[in-house]
Amino acid sequence: MLPANHPLVDGRTSGSRLIRAYRGDRPEVTPVWFMRQAGRSLPEYRELRVGTRMLDACLTPELASEITLQPVRRHGVDAAIFFSDIVVPVLLAGVGVEIVPGKGPVIEHPIRTASDVTALRPIDPDTLAPIAEAVALTVAELGQTPLIGFAGAPFTLASYLVEGGPSKEHLRARTMMYSDAHSWATLLNWCADVSGQFLLAQVRAGASAVQLFDSWVGSLSEQQYVRRVAPHSARVFSHLRGYDVPKVHFGVGSGELLPAMRAVGADVVGVDWRLPLDEAERRLGGGVPLQGNIDPALLGAPWRILEAHLDDVLGRGLAAPSHVVNLGHGVPPETDPDVLTRVVEYVHGRS
Ligand code: CP3
Repeated sequence: MLPANHPLVDGRTSGSRLIRAYRGDRPEVTPVWFMRQAGRSLPEYRELRVGTRMLDACLTPELASEITLQPVRRHGVDAAIFFSDIVVPVLLAGVGVEIVPGKGPVIEHPIRTASDVTALRPIDPDTLAPIAEAVALTVAELGQTPLIGFAGAPFTLASYLVEGGPSKEHLRARTMMYSDAHSWATLLNWCADVSGQFLLAQVRAGASAVQLFDSWVGSLSEQQYVRRVAPHSARVFSHLRGYDVPKVHFGVGSGELLPAMRAVGADVVGVDWRLPLDEAERRLGGGVPLQGNIDPALLGAPWRILEAHLDDVLGRGLAAPSHVVNLGHGVPPETDPDVLTRVVEYVHGRS
């Protein structure tokens, strides 16, 4: 159960545009936020981060909270996304990991063998205290603006753990999936519990919605996803049983997987830029709130081209019961932040 002072329970965020849209209602004004809105596109972020490593920033509650609030103040978006990273709970569970600028998460000892997998220890929920503290600080400042908590889905997390860092094709991870099904399942369950505990800490501390990022899931066939990955993604959400918060599920290149991604227990499906929202609605069989799907590449295009694209996205979003505008993936670091502010104003004004 959510605590009585949770923003969804005491009424601060339950009537917000974001939460209404996530629950399938269509508010008068279409809500909008951006994946990776907190981060390198903002000069105030780059300034705050000078001299602090990414993962240290994530584990310093005042800093993580301030970075989470920056894009809300600047852009007037309808939600904050908690500033952290999908590998933060992996680190807290005792796995050596660093985030290398310009590259991404790098694992000190990649998990490649059955004994690497069995050596993983479950996360101690007490280690998540800095996360809960950062969320509580943030929610106290946000008032009626909801905070979205997030975690990495088991496949995307496992892909970093097995590959040892970012990869394009996730070949090593997929080889393990086929050749050692038992270790694979054990690894994905471990990831599911790490991410599930990370989400639970954020929800208990005041997050009003959650998003599960399966960024690299597009490298799987539907059959393999359903058989070897989806049950573990469902296990992440099972950690939130009894907590009535909207759950968003997002992947990149996941057009073939949308119904399966919904089926793991998501209330809302995030769509990347490749698939028009009306087609996503059709594939999902109707009735599912959608989030997306501005092509991040168009943030760098002349305004009239971006504007025509926004009209197209908003128009196609009408096919779904409700629509939360977002990008089809994260904000590119070189984005002019004024363009993001203008997109927010445009979406709010067009509704
Ligand atoms: O507004 C937000 O969304 C901020 C919170 C956030 C971050 N990472 C901060 C971050 C979220 C939701 C994430 C999730 C995340 N991290 C995902 C899933 C979402 C997605 O984009 O697909 C993934 C795959 C990661 C792993 C990761 N961490 C990558 C690929 C990178 C980029 C590496 C680089 O330098 O290009 C990171 C680092 C990271 N996470 C940064 C931020 C702001 C940049 C680090 C910095 O500023 O030094």
